[in-house]
Amino acid sequence: MTSPLILINFKSYREGAGNNAGQIASAAELVMQESGVTIGVAPQFTELHPFCKHYEIPVYAQHIDAVEGAFTGRIPAFTVRAAGCTGSLINHSERRLTIADIEACVEAAKFNNLESVVCTNNVGVSAAAAVFAPTYVAIEPPELIGSGISVAKADPEIIRKSVDAVKNINKNVKVLCGAGIQTGECVKTSVDLGADGVLLASGVVKAKDPEAVLRDLVSKL
Ligand code: G3P
Repeated sequence: MTSPLILINFKSYREGAGNNAGQIASAAELVMQESGVTIGVAPQFTELHPFCKHYEIPVYAQHIDAVEGAFTGRIPAFTVRAAGCTGSLINHSERRLTIADIEACVEAAKFNNLESVVCTNNVGVSAAAAVFAPTYVAIEPPELIGSGISVAKADPEIIRKSVDAVKNINKNVKVLCGAGIQTGECVKTSVDLGADGVLLASGVVKAKDPEAVLRDLVSKL
């Protein structure tokens, strides 16, 4: 059986940059080695290549663009792959795309052997995203993002219904859930509801002791 994925998004938090970012990645590597639970990180773009070089953990981009050639200020999927990344978030709540762009980004990820994590805001959009056969659909109710209120406690039904909706479309697409996830209890509830893991940010990135939070996150699996 494959391990659930705990994916930490560093967003554009100051605490997710520089030395602090490295400390979070080191802690993720250590806890992953000790627990056997897969812990991935989605650092800021300037950290992608060094993170892929220095840490034995899956590294994801926070966004990719399905472009190549005369485009400026974009993140082509092939550069993310060349940096050594495992995959990329697509359509995060803070980086929304059109449906056409989501499909193009999933295709660009596949073409470049990258995992795709398509973020969604409700059950219907989760089902729509599953049509593109990404690696993961990540359901995150926007109102709970960064709130400290866990989706696993506040809205377990959205997790269960998203899992059902996605599997009805394509049983090979895995499901993550996120928003307000902070504890091992949240992770266990999510997995019990059928999720293949969690996507979280502030609970780890803004924590005083990220290693302690990471240990708690894996503790009930
Ligand atoms: O990408 C994860 C994110 O949107 C959830 O944020 O801070 O509620 O864990 P947070």
